[in-house]
Order: sequence, then structure tokens, then C-alpha cells
Amino acid sequence: MAKEKLKVLLVEDNPTDALIVKKKLQRDSAFDYEVTHVVSGENALLYLEKESYHIMLLDHNLPKKSGLQTLKEIKARNIEIPVVMITGQGDETVAVKLIKEGAFDYLPKGENYEDSIPLMIRKTMAEFRAKLESERLQKEIALKKDELEKTNEQLKELDRMKSDFVANVVHELRTPLTIIKGNLDNIEEGYAGEVQPKQVEILKDVFKTLNRLTRLVTDLLDLSKIESGKMELSKENLDIVELAKETIKGFEKLASDKNIEIKKELPESEVIIYADRDKLTQVFVNLIGNACKFTDKGIITIRIIGLQDEVQVEIQDTGPGMPKEQIGKIFDKFARIMAEKREGTGLGLPIAKDIVVLHNGRIRAESIPGKGSTFIFNLPKH
Ligand SMILES: Nc1ncnc2c1ncn2[C@@H]1O[C@H](COP(=O)(O)OP(=O)(O)O)[C@@H](O)[C@H]1O
Ligand SMILES: [Mg+2]
Repeated sequence: MAKEKLKVLLVEDNPTDALIVKKKLQRDSAFDYEVTHVVSGENALLYLEKESYHIMLLDHNLPKKSGLQTLKEIKARNIEIPVVMITGQGDETVAVKLIKEGAFDYLPKGENYEDSIPLMIRKTMAEFRAKLESERLQKEIALKKDELEKTNEQLKELDRMKSDFVANVVHELRTPLTIIKGNLDNIEEGYAGEVQPKQVEILKDVFKTLNRLTRLVTDLLDLSKIESGKMELSKENLDIVELAKETIKGFEKLASDKNIEIKKELPESEVIIYADRDKLTQVFVNLIGNACKFTDKGIITIRIIGLQDEVQVEIQDTGPGMPKEQIGKIFDKFARIMAEKREGTGLGLPIAKDIVVLHNGRIRAESIPGKGSTFIFNLPKH
């Protein structure tokens, strides 16, 4: 295999020393050396202007322009070349200074110092190239990071635009829905003539569908408000036990229709927390609603535990449960995995989560497939 050519610039005022170095390199097998020898710092700089070299061996003790001065000028001109300084023996303080000024390494001019030069060159070239490669990689990483940040910004902007769009559209949908509902109410109440039993039946279906649509639109509007930061909490001191009892009342008929028993494990006394009444009610409605929806015959337990600084609420059911992979997704929008056959929007849990988080609380789900699910949320009392 052909050896790699290595161009060496040797700056040495002593002709004998220079000759010995040249000989050493000729005998070394690591590279195919091409040594250019100059006798002064001035010349070295002139050569560096015209040609590029792989490495420079620079004698520190030069007449006129010293090695140090030459080194400084090389650095000032941003010439990228590893410089190995040949220093006087025992000149450790000088060596330290040279390294500080940007010399790659140094070699004291002791007896037979020339023997060490080939090894020094090999080591320097390896380290210098590793350094260049690492700098190149770092630059590349910085560039990629910039790109990613830019893309991220663009995505955020797109997401904002999308959210604004959804918010506007959803808002606009509400008015026609209200008008449709008003007209249907009129028909149902007989303002447009007597309603036949068959028509009553059809109207019932239409109202059901309309209610679903209204719920979807309301959910979407809530979610887009929360996401755009426009949802404001109006907090007050309230008894969460009382609020739970009231909400449960609204589910009693539905539960008994489905053969579901609702168990209340509530504290005897009140538990006061500082929260938004309507929003908190919505969390209860969404969670108890799910428990009722997904459970056919069974038990739903609503548990409230007053802790030191927070309150923990658990809604447990004996429904179908969820596999582990699903639990990770249910708080994401539209994540309706097993619910195809059941009515819903897939927005109930994301909304519940957003409300809990807005209250600086947290929510999670536990489940054993086939046995049931428990939704647990914690809210700070203050
Ligand atoms: N109590 C529960 N038991 C089993 N699965 C549930 C329960 N609550 C939620 N899920 C699952 O999480 C999904 C998301 O719930 P949610 O956001 O309330 O949407 P939706 O009720 O409109 O389907 C549901 O579709 C269902 O797959
Ligand atoms: Mg739901």
C-alpha cells in the first residue's frame, strides 16, 4: 500500500540539526515525508503563505524572530497547522507558555532528541486529526440543532394556526346548531302542526344526534380554549365532598338503568379546596361518565381522601379495563381505542387532564384488563 505523503515544514537555524532530522524521517516508515527546511521564522511564515503543510517543527531558539513570536504570528493569521516546538532542554516554563500560545506539543532538544521526532509526528498527526474531526462533528451537531430548533418553531407556529382555525370553526358551528335545535323544539312542541307518533320517534333520534354533535362542539371548544391558554379558572373555596355528592346524583338514574351500583367512600366532614367549581364538576362528570359508559352491570366506587396539603379522588369501576399500552394514550386527544361501539369523542379525558393540570394537580389511570379501571387525580388544597 502506498504510504501517505506528509509535508513537514522544518524551521531550524542549525544546519546539522536539520540534516539529522531529515535523515531520521527518511528512515521512518510511517509516512512518505516531504521535508521543507527553512532557517528563520520570517521564511517559515512566507512558506506558510504560499503552501500548505501537514505539520510544522519549529525551533524555539531562532535568531531574530523567535519561535514564540513566529508561533504567535501563525496563530494570528489563523493558519491551521499543528506546531511542534523544539525547545531548549529543561525549559519547562517556556514549554508551558508555548502550549498556552497554541503550540500542539513540544520536544526538548536533549541528546538524541531526533530519535523521538518520528513518534512525536505520528502522535501529533493522530491527535490533530482527531481534534479536527471532533470539531467538525461539533459544528455539524450545532448546525443540526439550529435546524431542529427552526423546524420546531415552524411546527409550533403551524400548531398555533391550526388551533386558532379549529377554535374559529368550532365557535362558528355553535350558532347554526342552536338555530337547528330551536326549530326542532318548535316542531316537537306542535307549533308547526300536530306531530304524529312516527314523527316523534324520528325527532327523538334527531335530538339524540344533535346532542352528540353539540357535545362534540362544546368539548372541542373547551379543549381549544385550554390549549390556547384562554381558559380561565374562577377559583373559590369549595367543599369537594359536597360537589362529588351532587355530581353523583346526576348519574344515579343512568347507573340503575345499567344495573350499576354506585358506592361512595367519602370523608365524614367537608374537604375544602380552592378550585373552579364548574371545571371541577366537569372532571367528575367526564370520569364518572366514562365509568358508567364502559361498565355494564357492576360497581363504581367514588373515593375521596383528604391528605395534608392535597386531596385525592379515585373513580374506580369494575368495567372492561384497559391494556397497559392503551393507558399511555387515553389522555391524548381522540385516543378512542376500544370505544368504537360506544358513543363518545375521545376528548373527555384530555379535557379532564387539562383542567386538573391547570389546577396544578395530576391525574393518572390504573387498570387490570377484565377487572376494571381506576382514575386517580390529586389537587392541591390551596
Ligand atoms: N372507565 C373506563 N374503562 C375503560 N376504558 C376507558 C375508561 N375511561 C376511558 N376509557 C378509554 O379511554 C378512551 C378515552 O376516553 P375519553 O377521552 O373520555 O373519550 P370517550 O369517552 O369520548 O371515548 C375511551 O374511548 C376508552 O377507550
Ligand atoms: Mg368520555
